[in-house]
Amino acid sequence: MSVSAADIPDTSILQTIGNRRSIRYFDPEKKVEDWKIQTILQAGRLASCQGNINATEAIVVEKETCELWDEIEECVSGFNVQIINQCSHLVFWLTNLNAWYGRANDGLSSLALSGALTKYHGWNYEFTMTQTVPRLMSFPTDRTEILLRFESGQAVGNSMLAATGLDVGSILIAFGRKPGGVEKAFGLPPNLKFTWGHAIGYPLEDAKAGGQRPRLKFEKLFHKNSYGNPLMPDPAVDAALKDKGMIQEQSPDAGRFAEIDKLAEQFGRDAGVVSWPEREVQRLMRDDDWDFGPAIKARAEEVVAAGGLPDYPEEMRETFQKLMEEHNIDASKYLS
Ligand SMILES: Cc1cc2nc3c(=O)[nH]c(=O)nc-3n(C[C@H](O)[C@H](O)[C@H](O)COP(=O)(O)O)c2cc1C
Repeated sequence: MSVSAADIPDTSILQTIGNRRSIRYFDPEKKVEDWKIQTILQAGRLASCQGNINATEAIVVEKETCELWDEIEECVSGFNVQIINQCSHLVFWLTNLNAWYGRANDGLSSLALSGALTKYHGWNYEFTMTQTVPRLMSFPTDRTEILLRFESGQAVGNSMLAATGLDVGSILIAFGRKPGGVEKAFGLPPNLKFTWGHAIGYPLEDAKAGGQRPRLKFEKLFHKNSYGNPLMPDPAVDAALKDKGMIQEQSPDAGRFAEIDKLAEQFGRDAGVVSWPEREVQRLMRDDDWDFGPAIKARAEEVVAAGGLPDYPEEMRETFQKLMEEHNIDASKYLS
């Protein structure tokens, strides 16, 4: 079925950002319509990209028709196996390093012809060809890889929001079980880097997935004029963003744990969620960097009161100690 503009939902961008969740339970009986897949990919294609070089590509896979499915499944991280088997489509986002070297010239020319690169900003053909492009072309591939993976992130972020805006669930998933396995399964040449897997489908869990997941406090992430000088959010702006649906109720909402258990029962999987040791849960709840709302604090108290939490595995001390030495960060809070 094709689509007309009148059929496409008009959710605002801020509401869409607020509605987005990583969806981990998909309805295996529901296929996402071709037009929605196309729209999701268009959103990736239209993302901003350096010099208009279009380095982000994707392979769209459907389990029922893809002959490489078994090979692909062997590569996905264990905690993502259920997800890929129940989603509708699996998108393998690729970063084409050759775009940097092979398309920068035409990409810039396309921008000049489009009226984007102008003399106002000092663009000059001769300078571009004798200075800018040679300098860019001299970058080693590991440098371009960092630059272009960032660009792929932009494309994927756009596509996830488009999916959310169309009431389609998304999650990015790691294929860490067999490093290099995805590239091998698809026979990708070295210039095509597999950047991330993206499962798409209709959520079987509530689309709110239990509420918006907590983040660090705004002022712990954003700085004013110098690093470490907190940029404080205006509470009135946050209140308006709540009204607009961008900032939503934090997880977990009242029905979340019953929902998880019901889904587990439906598919014959284990019920329940993972818990950290009591000491770790209490320490985290006291951590002032996090923006924890009442629901997650109440859940932490409930989990601690119920007991039966795991012990801290002593061998982890070594991991964190090594981390402190190698990365020069203070991980001592994990050791006490
Ligand atoms: C690059 C990237 C990779 C991720 N990989 C996984 C994954 O392999 N499995 C998984 O369950 N979630 C994965 N996630 C989802 C995050 O865990 C998720 O964003 C986090 O739980 C916050 O929830 P939210 O996306 O609903 O806000 C990934 C997210 C990103 C951005």
